[in-house]
Amino acid sequence: MQQIGNIKEIQAFALESRRSGKTIALVPTMGYLHDGHLELMKRAREKADLVIVSIFINPIQFGPNEDLDCYPQDLDGDLAKCRNVGVDIVFTPTREMLYPDSFQSSVEVKEITKGLCGAGRPGHFQGVTTVVSKLFNLTLPNIAFFGEKDFQQLAVIRQMVDDLNFPIEIVGVQIVRESDGLAMSSRNAYLPDRERKEAANIFQALIHAKALHKQGLKESKALCQTVSEQLDKKMESPFQVEYIKIYNASNLTEINGPITTPAVLLIAVKLGGTRLIDNLKL
Ligand code: PAF
Repeated sequence: MQQIGNIKEIQAFALESRRSGKTIALVPTMGYLHDGHLELMKRAREKADLVIVSIFINPIQFGPNEDLDCYPQDLDGDLAKCRNVGVDIVFTPTREMLYPDSFQSSVEVKEITKGLCGAGRPGHFQGVTTVVSKLFNLTLPNIAFFGEKDFQQLAVIRQMVDDLNFPIEIVGVQIVRESDGLAMSSRNAYLPDRERKEAANIFQALIHAKALHKQGLKESKALCQTVSEQLDKKMESPFQVEYIKIYNASNLTEINGPITTPAVLLIAVKLGGTRLIDNLKL
């Protein structure tokens, strides 16, 4: 496994690999890798000759009061994990390399970024689509892997790839969960013991709503209400719900009435100081 930090070097490597007929899979990450990331890498390993993992904490997708300055990092641990799953290249650019002082462009997906996380994190998705476009241009993948925990992010990236005709297949990979159901996330590391235990209630509340949906409760608002009630009942630590919503799973539009299409129940909760997101297909 090789670590490349330089953008000219990674692009030359990718160009040469593609010219010689090799296929490339990209797994973009911000590091502090967990089993969810490793699942993306394993899936990538099965699909391409070369697997590139990028590790870059992208400053432009963080808002002014968010956790950019304390985002968890463990490069040595990350490199060991990548090596273990057979990654070929770990790309670790610096901020200055991706965003030199002269930088002034951005990529924006307009509609499906407005709700859910986009409503609470203005500019976030523009930061994501800008950096992912840059990573695509630098690593020239045939295929790229993203986790379904960030359901909206995955939909936004698919939209961008369609709109801008990137010749790249986008693969969404199922959420990997801790044994108590909490969706794996680098941000779980922020949770003190008590909040960590209570965080499992988020998934339990989604499961409860899914069961009610299966039993015949089809009204979107009523289902979201049951999630909120479950949280109120089970949580002892202070928490704030940012959103609990049901969206059409294929076009990411909100469902307000009866659910008649494949749908996904999405939630964002701030538990103490930690923002957690999760979702479950109904
Ligand atoms: O999902 C993430 O970790 C980030 O949003 C991504 C896709 C690596 C872009 O910085």
